[in-house]
Amino acid sequence: MSTAEQSQSRPDRDGAAGAPIPTIDVDRTDPDYRSWLKEAVRKVQADANRTADTHLLRFPLPEEWGVDLYLKDESTHPTGSLKHRLARSLFLYGLCNGWIRPGKPVIESSSGSTAVSEAYFAKLVGVPFIAVMPATTSREKTRLIEFHGGTCHLVQDPRTVYEVSARLAAESGGHYMDQFTYAERATDWRGNNNIAESIYHQLRLERHPEPAWIVATAGTGGTSATIARYVHYMQYDTRVCVPDPENSCFFPGWLTGDPGTDCATASRIEGIGRPRMEPSFLPAAIDRMMRVPDAASVAAVRALETAIGRKAGGSTGTGLWSALKIVAEMRAEGRTGSVVTLLCDPGDRYLDKYYSDDWLAAQGLDIAPYARTIETFLTTGTWSD
Ligand SMILES: Cc1ncc(COP(=O)(O)O)c(C=O)c1O
Repeated sequence: MSTAEQSQSRPDRDGAAGAPIPTIDVDRTDPDYRSWLKEAVRKVQADANRTADTHLLRFPLPEEWGVDLYLKDESTHPTGSLKHRLARSLFLYGLCNGWIRPGKPVIESSSGSTAVSEAYFAKLVGVPFIAVMPATTSREKTRLIEFHGGTCHLVQDPRTVYEVSARLAAESGGHYMDQFTYAERATDWRGNNNIAESIYHQLRLERHPEPAWIVATAGTGGTSATIARYVHYMQYDTRVCVPDPENSCFFPGWLTGDPGTDCATASRIEGIGRPRMEPSFLPAAIDRMMRVPDAASVAAVRALETAIGRKAGGSTGTGLWSALKIVAEMRAEGRTGSVVTLLCDPGDRYLDKYYSDDWLAAQGLDIAPYARTIETFLTTGTWSD
């Protein structure tokens, strides 16, 4: 494959900060490159074509309440989380933009789930993959990244993942995927079987087909942005709520509207809660935010197992706590309708965290009061916290 002779400066991509532009080291007209590109795109599309839609599960609530609660089970994607959708979109975006090139690594800053899915797609198209992640990332996620052929680069200070990723990309001539900038624009928010379109499609035969609320937690903010944009585009009356864990700047940043809001402490709920207002988080599209104590997230995810027999990750608990609270509000107001939240990833990735009483004790988290709130609500219909 020949190298392009001229190296010219190109305009900044959409004015986005963050990811550096890969150097022009590939002749884009080279037939070898073009056939590599076609083949890579075909493989990603073929993977999607082989993949079935994810289930919309019912969370059991008394029928007579008139409020139905659903969980969109994103843990059944081939790489086990809602990030499979994002990784596919980011790979297609990066390939079609000419940013992902043969033999050059893809680098990503991640709290783990995106990196697991991206390692899978990197292997599929045959490029090396490096995940830059906080050292606290669950061991199971690093194992999965390595299982898919990726390399893990762990950093002590989670706030440095962005700069370390950019540096590794510059040093290797690779592409920094930068999910935190590109998640919202790589996803087809108007439809194309995105998560929102799928939810509405699956609710068609339910007694309340247009949900009163959709609850989605935020890491990049991409999922909540896609859902909120789709709701507005389709002119639905659904409201979108983003619950945020303790250590995250999204909630205060949404309240004040200050894009410079930050947070010094790392989130304990893996995948969600960020130290800075990520470019893919679109506060103006979100109707409501809720601060959820970390102990409440853990209590909720354990209650999920009691209710439907499934373990899930901490972010699923954050969303479920918030969704149950909304159901309680609807009941108190005498309203009927449906509420949808997400089952983001499976609990077996976090057995040594959210399912470990030792971890809870080490973190100083007491889930008992929140567990009581949920249990009381599910048995009496009354919420008190
Ligand atoms: C387990 C988990 N839940 C929820 C999210 C939030 O998704 P998004 O990045 O679309 O905001 C993430 C993102 O990393 C995640 O890993």
